[in-house]
Amino acid sequence: MREFDFLVLGSGIAGLSFALQVASRGRVAIITKKDRAESNTNYAQGGIASVTSKEDSFKLHVADTLVAGAGLCKESVVHTIIEEGPARIAELIEMGMKFSLRDLPGDGGQELDLGKEGGHSKRRILHAKDITGRDIERALLAAVAERPQIEIFENHFAIDLITSQKLGYVGENRCLGVYVLDKASGNVETFAAPVTLLATGGCGKVYLYTTNPDIATGDGVAMAYRAGASVANMEFIQFHPTCLYHPRAKSFLISEAVRGEGGVLKSITGREFMDGHHPMKSLAPRDIVARAIDGEMKKSGADYVHLDITHRPARFIMERFPNIYQTCLGYGIDITKEPIPVVPAAHYQCGGVVTNVDGETGIPGLYAVGEVSCTGLHGANRLASNSLLEALVCGHRAADKCVPPASRSVRMPIPPWHAGNAHNADEMVVVSHNWDEIRRTMWDYVGIVRTNKRLQRAQARIANLQQEIQEFYWDFLVSSDLLELRNIALVAELIIQCSLRRPESRGLNYNLDHPEPNPEWAQQDTVLSR
Ligand code: FAD
Ligand code: SIN
Repeated sequence: MREFDFLVLGSGIAGLSFALQVASRGRVAIITKKDRAESNTNYAQGGIASVTSKEDSFKLHVADTLVAGAGLCKESVVHTIIEEGPARIAELIEMGMKFSLRDLPGDGGQELDLGKEGGHSKRRILHAKDITGRDIERALLAAVAERPQIEIFENHFAIDLITSQKLGYVGENRCLGVYVLDKASGNVETFAAPVTLLATGGCGKVYLYTTNPDIATGDGVAMAYRAGASVANMEFIQFHPTCLYHPRAKSFLISEAVRGEGGVLKSITGREFMDGHHPMKSLAPRDIVARAIDGEMKKSGADYVHLDITHRPARFIMERFPNIYQTCLGYGIDITKEPIPVVPAAHYQCGGVVTNVDGETGIPGLYAVGEVSCTGLHGANRLASNSLLEALVCGHRAADKCVPPASRSVRMPIPPWHAGNAHNADEMVVVSHNWDEIRRTMWDYVGIVRTNKRLQRAQARIANLQQEIQEFYWDFLVSSDLLELRNIALVAELIIQCSLRRPESRGLNYNLDHPEPNPEWAQQDTVLSR
């Protein structure tokens, strides 16, 4: 058994910010299932929303967040996160993060170049061209490398949280650590600590089409739910309106910042179709834009719509969006000369493990921060670029709040992992078939536009698959593919359950059987626990 003072599951912005903050108080293990930089954070393009300009105010940022959240945000949480943002950003810059700057007129020096995205009334997105996430990971990992108290375990897959209740201890249900699969050796190891942070990110891979990388399989939500934590608002899956549509492109996002710099959505015949949907047109909140694109594709029968930024100077496009420009060029699309084919794709999980703004879950010793958590900031629809902000602020707050190593007394004996030991030659084909079936079912029946009948159909199919997966799980040696399959199946079930429980359309949960918001549900979360 490996013992630490703090266990951090995940090495994106949430896990790394927390680890850096607690490192002065004890030994930290960061457990991450691929290489250390691989995370949703690493692919973030648009940037971090925060109030840094004189033309902007906390009041406006709060108001924009509440409007996007469609009545379901927790106002006190929104205030805290937005108001603490500038201090956390300043620390990030001190750590070596280089946000893009712009020249001031004359000899006025330089200032932060602020981008604009959907639902924002002001320019307030700090960015590093269009690779903001990659630069954030670089800066945070460089800082982690200088802390000898932090040990990173790459290619280590967290399987399940270890709780006192699961082990049969009486008294409160505490988190004691986690069982972890070392992917290289195939062994399952026990990691123990008085504090465990879930920073495992979101669940885009539950859907057939997603902007997320392969790591996003909802493992944290699944582990927390199995451990007895509450999970809420999983029906609010955000579909990003503009994912590149190309047969060879896997999950490549075309940042909302492209629309912020003038990009316009058009039908394939060149008609600007957002005019009738929202006064902010192509820059309306994401739920509205994604639904409008879905409607346009269904009406025209086309497989995609166009995003056109060709009216801006080529030099500007190439300098502001170098990664998008080069990647599209690699697929034969010159975005300075032709419109970009785009489709909506699953992007962000607004719900998650229920926490307060300090990352505390209902299980002592267990914290959750970042996309895995549901703090109440996003409500029914996240405002663009508020997620990196939430992870930074809450990572810091959780680190300040969490019980330091003085609580060694809570350590209890933990038995080693008990594994099945059979190999199954059929495993890979069954696992990949089930993966595909879940993702397709979720895309077809639990997507941008839902109905009760489709949700029920999806629920029945997922339940059948879960039974089959469960048999596999107990009988055979665990592999990361099988573990992820078990998790996406459970997360799919939670998304469907939450969606069926909400008898209204609000934000990202749009159901043709209840097409309007229901005032009785305006303040109600859909909370599930085992
Ligand atoms: P992640 O960064 O996803 O990190 C999760 C970590 O947990 C990874 O290291 C992963 O390997 C690890 N992990 C997961 N499961 C396990 C397990 N079982 N065992 C061990 N390790 C595990 N948000 C913005 O605010 N602004 C943007 O511009 C923006 N652009 C985006 C662009 C793209 C393409 C995508 C996909 C998302 C974007 N988002 C953006 C959303 C934002 O990037 C994420 O919400 C945020 O980075 C989540 O950070 P996190 O630390 O919570 O999780
Ligand atoms: C983007 O760049 O469009 C992504 C921003 C976000 O998801 O917040």
